[in-house]
Amino acid sequence: MKATRLRHSQPADLSFITQLERDPENRELIGQWSDLEHLHAIEGRDRWSHWIIEHGGRPAGYLIPRDCAAQGAGIYIKRILVADKERGTGKAAISQFLEKAFGRDDVPFVWLIVRNENARAQAVYRQLGFEPFEPGAAEAPRFDLVAEAPLDQCFRMLLAR
Ligand SMILES: CC(C)(COP(=O)(O)OP(=O)(O)OC[C@H]1O[C@@H](n2cnc3c(N)ncnc32)[C@H](O)[C@@H]1OP(=O)(O)O)[C@@H](O)C(=O)NCCC(=O)NCCS
Repeated sequence: MKATRLRHSQPADLSFITQLERDPENRELIGQWSDLEHLHAIEGRDRWSHWIIEHGGRPAGYLIPRDCAAQGAGIYIKRILVADKERGTGKAAISQFLEKAFGRDDVPFVWLIVRNENARAQAVYRQLGFEPFEPGAAEAPRFDLVAEAPLDQCFRMLLAR
């Protein structure tokens, strides 16, 4: 079986990333970033990082997390996208990312925002142990500050260490 692994994205990966993100099939499922936003994340600005998901040694997708541990909001996964879906690549990639994240002592949880209608992504997150999460009024601003408040038709999911 071919291996799935994560490596840091490089500026040279930009066209792979943006072509995949802007593919009409994917546009409906995920948000869209400009080239510059991706490049800033690749450079690690504002606590973003940017990972290429490789499968069998070739780019197969990408994952964008934000390190919000110092803000008391764990690690936020902003976006994950794979080219060939439902072949186990997404689950393997998130699993590897979780190992990295929870390998740190200062990361109590990893969380994300998912659309109500995105049953496939929700299934993957649930299989990995994520559960729907609604912060109380006092903690919500801490989450909203580092990500964005979930729009209508979206909700947060969280996996605690
Ligand atoms: C979400 C995404 C990253 C998951 O990666 P993937 O490689 O397709 O997922 P996997 O193959 O690892 O796992 C898919 C699982 O969901 C299940 N599934 C698929 N469609 C489903 C549905 N409509 N309802 C319930 N489960 C579903 C599959 O059966 C599979 O589970 P199994 O391994 O037990 O059979 C990928 O599909 C993707 O890039 N989607 C478009 C972008 C997106 O939605 N990103 C997430 C935004 S929050």
